[in-house]
Amino acid sequence: MIESRARTDSAERLRSRIAAELTRARDRSRLLTDAVDDDDLVRQHSPIMSPLVWDLAHVGNQEELWLVRDVGGREPVRCDIDDLYDAFRHPRRERPSLPLLGPGEARSYVATVRAKVLDLLDGIRFDGRRLVADGFVFGMIAQHEQQHAETMLATHQLRAGPPVLAAPPPPPAAVRVGGEVLVPAGPFEMGTSTDPWALDNERPAHRVELPAYVIDAAPVTNAAYREFVTDGGYADPRWWSAEGWRHRRAAGLVAPMHWRRDGADWGCLRFGRFGPLVPDEPVVHVSYYEAEAYAAWAGKRLPTEAEWEKAARWDPATGRSRRYPWGDGEPTPEHANLGQRHLAPAPVGAYPAGASPLGVHQLIGDVWEWTSSTFRGYPGFAAFPYREYSEVFFGTEYRVLRGGSFGTDPVACRGTFRNWDLPIRRQIFSGFRCARDARPEEAAAGRAEPGR
Ligand code: AVJ
Ligand code: FE
Repeated sequence: MIESRARTDSAERLRSRIAAELTRARDRSRLLTDAVDDDDLVRQHSPIMSPLVWDLAHVGNQEELWLVRDVGGREPVRCDIDDLYDAFRHPRRERPSLPLLGPGEARSYVATVRAKVLDLLDGIRFDGRRLVADGFVFGMIAQHEQQHAETMLATHQLRAGPPVLAAPPPPPAAVRVGGEVLVPAGPFEMGTSTDPWALDNERPAHRVELPAYVIDAAPVTNAAYREFVTDGGYADPRWWSAEGWRHRRAAGLVAPMHWRRDGADWGCLRFGRFGPLVPDEPVVHVSYYEAEAYAAWAGKRLPTEAEWEKAARWDPATGRSRRYPWGDGEPTPEHANLGQRHLAPAPVGAYPAGASPLGVHQLIGDVWEWTSSTFRGYPGFAAFPYREYSEVFFGTEYRVLRGGSFGTDPVACRGTFRNWDLPIRRQIFSGFRCARDARPEEAAAGRAEPGR
């Protein structure tokens, strides 16, 4: 009796957490779509992005497919539009010419789907099917909507015209952070088998043995990156990989996306506002190829995905891997710049409470960090619940990014979370930090030797 009562209470808590996450995601989608007029919603702001109205209805359609039809076993809300909102059937550049739902139709469609979902959530049991255990599929749909909210924010950044979004600036630096951190040789647990809302590509947990390495205590800043630019880094093939150099030339890259000359210096365009570069802010809107070239110029390299994750999760005191750099507790505004609270990365040193036990800062939030790893399944990977979330992207084409950005919601970000994109992409909120092999004397001394 007592046990079943306890079970009911925890199901109630899960139900209200799910409702809160879905509502928060919808508030975000609404803010991003209500910020512009109908014309702007249906227009394509870049050939590599969908019209915002496509993202909105796509979010509703995924919710309908998984929650209304599959989990709920209910009648379709609209069975005639599945094809239009299937990302695999229509590449982004084609989406504006499809007979999409208009802004009003899309809004009422997602509202109808949501009402049905909240209704069926009320009577759902979280035992039985693996899909619903711990509320997984609801968490997956909340994460999906928030992932599209980040994509919509990237579309806003590409949109021409006067600013329509505003947010308070991120906090200033509270501590000085710089230099490098030594991560000692040894095993750590990568990925997770227990985090209830972790997606398939984060699973299963497995042991990874790494030699000693050194990683930057902070992401590469605008000031540091500007040195690479003014040192002629974009004109010197020595720093670039062969494919990177080919791409740089073909695309005519001379600086990060959204940087503009401002007299003798550079400024940057952000959500329709032009301003000077903030020197101690992490650089953002760089491709993998640019990150790789900067690292070579700096005498370093990008971290592998495993190196990034060990720096972010490994606790030297216990040998355990944490959920986040600061511990297992959910991110708060003191830990990290997440969730579109600010529409810019925070300066290095703004989140001392978010540092890892080894003293690595701002791994979570601010900017996605490119790693040198291609996107692959972990040993024992099993696609769940559909191959098209991750598995179809495995191979050598995509590179993994870690840690989330200021545009990423906390529900879609954790120490194990894996993002991926093509190495040429830079419309996403992508930055990086550098790493290198530890020199033998550093490995022996247990610390990185600065300034050699
Ligand atoms: C994990 C960010 C690469 O946006 O392509 C959204 C997330 N998957 N809808 C993407 C996703 C299906 C995905 N990323
Ligand atoms: Fe999607």
